[in-house]
Amino acid sequence: MAIVSSGSGRPSSGQPGAERLLGARLVDAAEPEVTELGQPDSFQADGLPADSLRPRRLQEYIGQSELRQVLGIAVEATRSRGEALDHVLLYGPPGLGKTTMALVLAEELGVRCRITSAPALERPRDIVGLLVNLQPRELLFIDEIHRLNRVAEELLYPAMEDFRLDLTVGKGTTARSRSLPIAPFTLVGATTRAGSLSSPLRDRFGLIQRLEFYGLDDLQAIVLRAAGLLDLDLESGAALEVARRCRGTPRIANRLLRRVRDVAAVGGHGRINAALVDQALSLHRVDGLGLDAHDRRLLSLMLEGYGGGPVGLETLAAGLGEDPVTLEAVVEPFLLQQGLLQRTPRGRVLTDAGRAHLGRAA
Ligand code: ADE
Repeated sequence: MAIVSSGSGRPSSGQPGAERLLGARLVDAAEPEVTELGQPDSFQADGLPADSLRPRRLQEYIGQSELRQVLGIAVEATRSRGEALDHVLLYGPPGLGKTTMALVLAEELGVRCRITSAPALERPRDIVGLLVNLQPRELLFIDEIHRLNRVAEELLYPAMEDFRLDLTVGKGTTARSRSLPIAPFTLVGATTRAGSLSSPLRDRFGLIQRLEFYGLDDLQAIVLRAAGLLDLDLESGAALEVARRCRGTPRIANRLLRRVRDVAAVGGHGRINAALVDQALSLHRVDGLGLDAHDRRLLSLMLEGYGGGPVGLETLAAGLGEDPVTLEAVVEPFLLQQGLLQRTPRGRVLTDAGRAHLGRAA
């Protein structure tokens, strides 16, 4: 599977009239920013590609068993029919593997996956450029799909439903509508905020799947797999310690593992045990539950500034100098899942467990 960037010089879809129609209005229908994974700018400081730890096939993908099962069946059925996979919406907190799953699906289907995000699709010609260049059965991954603007969203409706683009050609009194066929494709949308998607867009996805935080066993297996790929001698107790402290999130687990590897390398440790993991992660101020300084600052602000709440999201965000949307979509979900805070109609409330955790952290 290849992941191709903008400006790759690929021909348009080959649909008759595509270039002519685009020429009428969208003369410079350039493709917007499309990520090229595995290219030099996505390398970590240690020289290993940032995506080198991603599973490539469903068989290698650990956890999210319901998601794997549902998509595995859909892929097999689609392959046997020789059609494009139904459109897929993946939602849930960041770092749980939405992009990874899109790449896995493309690999399983033997097609390319083009990756972009809604904020990169600002102008109508951005999304038109992408859609007309898709080849049959290819995947188009749009991250943060809840941020699509109205025009882009409305262009997507007939594209998703009938593999057709409805374009306006010309201006003013000479403006005419033209319908342009495009290749059958699969849209994989990803969002941390499924509730912010309009219902017409949500309803056009045939498969809607939530990604859950990973359990300890799955995380331990993910860490051991990554350690193998990084050629690290990691004890299973050490993998469990990383699993405990990664907020249920593989992306964080892999990041922590790289920090542990640094400490092990500098200290000259060949074999990595749980005590070394503890030492390395304490250095990075990641506590026993996986909370970082940022999380603890939120809980402390609730306790010390507002007696444990209830306190509004906007007030907390202002106090932390944080964007409320990020606070709600990125920081809070794990704290909620751990029962450290609660959302109530009157605002956020620190729970007894949250107070106890702050006491331990202090
Ligand atoms: N690395 C990151 N996420 C993973 C997953 N779900 N399975 C295996 N390896 C991973």
